[in-house]
Amino acid sequence: MTDWRAKEAKYFMRAGRRMDLLAVRGEGSRLWDDQGKSYLDFFGGPATISLGHSHPVIVDALVDQAKQLIHVSNQFYSIPQLQLAELLIENSCFDRVYFMNSGAEANEGALKLARKWGKEKKSGAYEIIAAENAFHGRTLQAVTAGGTDRYKAPFAPLPEGYVHVPFNDVDAVKRATTSKTVAIFMEPIQGEGGINVPDDGYFKALRAWCDEQNILLILDEVQTGCGRTGELFAYQLYGAEPDIMTLGKGIGGGVPLSAFLAKEHCAVFTPGDHGTTYGGEPLTTRVGYEVMKYIIDNDVPAKVKRNGETVRRRLESLVDRCPHVNEARGKGLMWAVQFTSDIGERVTNAALAAGLIVNNVRPNAVRLAPPLTISDEELEEGLAILEHVIESEAPPVK
Ligand SMILES: Cc1ncc(COP(=O)(O)O)c(C=O)c1O
Repeated sequence: MTDWRAKEAKYFMRAGRRMDLLAVRGEGSRLWDDQGKSYLDFFGGPATISLGHSHPVIVDALVDQAKQLIHVSNQFYSIPQLQLAELLIENSCFDRVYFMNSGAEANEGALKLARKWGKEKKSGAYEIIAAENAFHGRTLQAVTAGGTDRYKAPFAPLPEGYVHVPFNDVDAVKRATTSKTVAIFMEPIQGEGGINVPDDGYFKALRAWCDEQNILLILDEVQTGCGRTGELFAYQLYGAEPDIMTLGKGIGGGVPLSAFLAKEHCAVFTPGDHGTTYGGEPLTTRVGYEVMKYIIDNDVPAKVKRNGETVRRRLESLVDRCPHVNEARGKGLMWAVQFTSDIGERVTNAALAAGLIVNNVRPNAVRLAPPLTISDEELEEGLAILEHVIESEAPPVK
């Protein structure tokens, strides 16, 4: 039998860590490993497998589109890209869109757009105010904008023009604003940072500050977008429209597709300013179109909101019962359970052994991001496994 783990150890760059699961098949909310064991997938990419694994809508779109046209340069018009563009614009507060492949690249495009806007409309302002503990991807700009020092330190010198403030602190943003500030760039809910949900008024206050100071609000909705929080886009949770938004992960349901969207006043690119070989190609945008159409036509966000209440109820009860669980936080189908000590990895491994995939997003927290289409029964089943695993970590005596 082929030892794939040994091949990984021999051939693969050691840039990340893996969980001990060799995935060979996925269907709906379940994954199967090479031994035939099945798992409920509450990790989902993370937050990428929006319609579940190998949803028929995605498989049919891939097969049909592959037979017609897989790739054509952005120097030509292609239909799926324009269908998806229309769908996104008609269902959001934005006027224009550009497609890329990954979340980091979408953020790169958004940041370039802001820089150009600053040059043209704000006397050369270029500085970005970002949040501590944020995650925006792994390109040099994205790690610099991100809030985790260990992701950037090995790669210094870093690009200039980023200042960081604590998340959910409006005054800190105000203090950090100078005549050089061009934009505030943040996740509506911090994902990799541990599912940190800001106060309800935070983004409304940032919106007002941006209007007052003539600076742009850019929201990274790579993780929160496309129905994940119970709204189609998370900015709708707060009633605060950004000037620019990025999407990734869930928009492709598992194929590499991302986008940045902008309001007309800051869509300042002119021909030659940006480009990509693969971004927006027919194969991936056809899938993106079918995924987004499914999410919109079936009002998936409403179902996510309902299921989010089930998750909230059960996790809050866990907090009440277990002294070693101190918080459950999230919206829709993105949640974290936080412990009083660093048992995230132990809980994750115990859940895996019990047939549930979660991830230790922080040393002291696990994250849940199941498919948006998960059935009520699967949701209850996964939560029951998680509760059992967490309760077994220490006796519930509260
Ligand atoms: C909020 C956010 N932005 C950007 C990214 C980067 O996306 P990608 O890995 O597709 O580059 C991620 C990935 O986790 C993310 O959560």
